Amino acid sequence: MNEYDSLKISQLLASDYELTQDKEEADLIIVNTCSIREKAEHKVYSLLGHLKKLKAKRPELILAVGGCVAQQEKENILRRTPFVEIVFGPHSICELPDVLKSLETRKSICMTELKDDFVIPFVPFATKDDSDAPLKAFVTIMQGCDNFCAYCVVPHVRGREVSRPSDLILEEVRDLVSKGVKDITLLGQNVNSYGLKQKTSKNFAQLLREVGAVPGLERLRFTTSHPKDLGMDTIDCFRDIPCLCEHLHLPLQSGSDNVLKRMNRRYSKAQYLEKIAALRDAVPEISITTDLIVGFPGETDEDFEQTLSVVRQVEYEQAFAFKYSPRPFTRAKDFSDQVPDDVKSERLTVLLSTLNEVAMKRHSRLVGKEQEALIEGVSKADPNELTARTRGNHVINLRGSRDLIGTFRKVRITSASYHSLRGEISLNP
Ligand code: 5AD
Ligand code: SF4
Repeated sequence: MNEYDSLKISQLLASDYELTQDKEEADLIIVNTCSIREKAEHKVYSLLGHLKKLKAKRPELILAVGGCVAQQEKENILRRTPFVEIVFGPHSICELPDVLKSLETRKSICMTELKDDFVIPFVPFATKDDSDAPLKAFVTIMQGCDNFCAYCVVPHVRGREVSRPSDLILEEVRDLVSKGVKDITLLGQNVNSYGLKQKTSKNFAQLLREVGAVPGLERLRFTTSHPKDLGMDTIDCFRDIPCLCEHLHLPLQSGSDNVLKRMNRRYSKAQYLEKIAALRDAVPEISITTDLIVGFPGETDEDFEQTLSVVRQVEYEQAFAFKYSPRPFTRAKDFSDQVPDDVKSERLTVLLSTLNEVAMKRHSRLVGKEQEALIEGVSKADPNELTARTRGNHVINLRGSRDLIGTFRKVRITSASYHSLRGEISLNP
């Protein structure tokens, strides 16, 4: 979501600024922040500490802080780091161009109003030339969240759930496809409740079908789904829409009914597993990924065992696992039965090794098989290698000419590890 917002910000400012990789030559530095866990928030202040030195050298440099930490901390940021001139929340990105123009007349500004009807505007994707467009892009379909999971800061910093009108979404998808984007991910905190608040709107499955029909779109994905709202109509889309990739990110958070209840997730372990069974029934080869939290207040060893048991049952292809981090404004931060950090760390270690084990098991099943792969670029780890992605969202490392970047190829999987695959481009395309 933040990556998408950063791109929007750069597009909104494209008539006055161009991007640079060199902070020494920047006229404006915008730090777009995340406050989902405390660690992300700490990083902001340590980065601002570094940027203070740049500002001392070049007082004309403008420093801005945007995103969820800005929304959470508001004027505190201006007090704590007075060399920052602009603080703006997720709903204020559109005001940025005007504020930058009028900055000379004031010293600093804090824009953190949350608006009930905020909609991200459509801004055509700015490319310098045709080879400039990315292969993959996000398109936001909704903002904010109404779920109020007990651990989560998002509803407090991104405001109430608002769905973007479908014509705006389709316009953005068509624009991206016309500029060469091949793989689009529809984004929202809870995409499955798309349109439900506005009775006149399409629902999520209808929207998926319309986006899936955009000519030239090769790959479509979406994230994040809430298990309580994932319906059969969406599951059917995996069978019916050719470009919809066989991958679903379905956050479990915990496998214990006690913990799920206290998290306010509003599904049980059995209901979650029923959805997984329906998905695998409709699309046997679907790859399923998840998010997990260990050490939520009150989580016992037995609760944690339940999480491990679901992980072994579902066999996730990949997962993001986090230690619970108390967040401002949330209910769980005031729960009296917080779990000590050493217990959280121990559980995280056990969970990560179980996740690696099941991912290895699933990835091994692909060895010897052919997969359709989009060759995405040069490997970061080895400049002599390319990296590609399957429809199931697995990363494949392979040898091949750089001319192949941006093309789809059949790749035979030769070996697997828990985080990626190795493959060879098949001779018969
Ligand atoms: N502590 C730890 N993890 C969290 N997440 C959200 N809030 C917290 C928190 N307070 C995780 C959830 C969510 C992912 C984006 O971040 O697993 O799905
Ligand atoms: Fe946070 Fe829950 Fe909303 Fe996801 S559904 S953004 S975890 S409150």
